[in-house]
Amino acid sequence: MRLGRWSRLCQARMEYSSGAIPNSEVAMDTKKLFSLEGRSALITGGSRGIGRMIAEGFVAQGARVYISSRKTDACDRTATELSKGGGTCVALPMDVSTVDGARALAAAYQAREPSLDILVNNAGAAWLASFDEFSEKGWDKVLDLNTKAPFFLTQALHKALRAAASPDRPAKVINIASIDGIYVTPNETYSYVASKAGLIQLTRLMASKLIKEHIVVSAIAPGPFASDMNIFARDRAAEVAARVPAGRIGADEDMAGVAIFLASRAGDYVVGSTVTVDGGVAFAS
Ligand SMILES: NC(=O)c1ccc[n+]([C@@H]2O[C@H](COP(=O)([O-])OP(=O)(O)OC[C@H]3O[C@@H](n4cnc5c(N)ncnc54)[C@H](OP(=O)(O)O)[C@@H]3O)[C@@H](O)[C@H]2O)c1
Repeated sequence: MRLGRWSRLCQARMEYSSGAIPNSEVAMDTKKLFSLEGRSALITGGSRGIGRMIAEGFVAQGARVYISSRKTDACDRTATELSKGGGTCVALPMDVSTVDGARALAAAYQAREPSLDILVNNAGAAWLASFDEFSEKGWDKVLDLNTKAPFFLTQALHKALRAAASPDRPAKVINIASIDGIYVTPNETYSYVASKAGLIQLTRLMASKLIKEHIVVSAIAPGPFASDMNIFARDRAAEVAARVPAGRIGADEDMAGVAIFLASRAGDYVVGSTVTVDGGVAFAS
């Protein structure tokens, strides 16, 4: 009987456990497991905060990274800084909160690259207002960017993702959600929690459709990370850390680490899941 690669590996492991064959014959090459060498990545909201943490990690792992955000200067500055070590980071400024904007970003990317290995839908916005004061503007701004943009940008880049995807090396779509889409936050951020809970469920449905084309969709739900959006974590880190079971806010490496895992060979079998990276806020409080 012909054995598949996985069956052969399992059989080899059993033989190794029983002492029948030496270790060298079954050892996997774990050094390459997290490499992004030769892969292209597009990260929305990559100019600062969590998007920048991910971009820095991807560049360090060898990917050609494209970052996008509305402000051209900030986007250019970050791309220049992240290219300093010899890696590739290119700025593609765009507002992705409209379908036209998402399509324009996809076109700008595809003018430079024929295919896309990794799309990170990270750009996001929040709105805080009391229940009675909450406005339609605060609802639409947040839903347009946090939930609509990931769908329509992925749709606009579907062909490029398909062009990169294969059974041995699936393309990746990583949606940046939030623990606010999982647990009940004490903050009155009504549209934000709805947008992130929606994105987590959207991740599952998109994953179920796109996995048939070897495009793996997953999500990350961050807890508190210092950024312009989370000014509490940025400016009052000790106070926020006191409410985190791990006793600290998230560090750049925490975010880069999980994004590299999902983007690389290491995360190929994580399909439709949302990984919480929050020091235990959502599930260990
Ligand atoms: N920080 C946290 O604690 C935390 C926790 C949970 C989830 N998150 C999620 O993580 C993601 C990143 O958040 P962050 O904290 O890093 O926020 P941030 O510092 O405010 O960064 C947001 C990024 O998105 C870009 N952006 C905003 N509106 C845009 C638009 N319409 N089109 C294109 N780009 C746009 C911004 O650049 P421009 O202003 O130049 O456009 C910036 O690069 C968001 O989805 C957020 O919900 C953050």
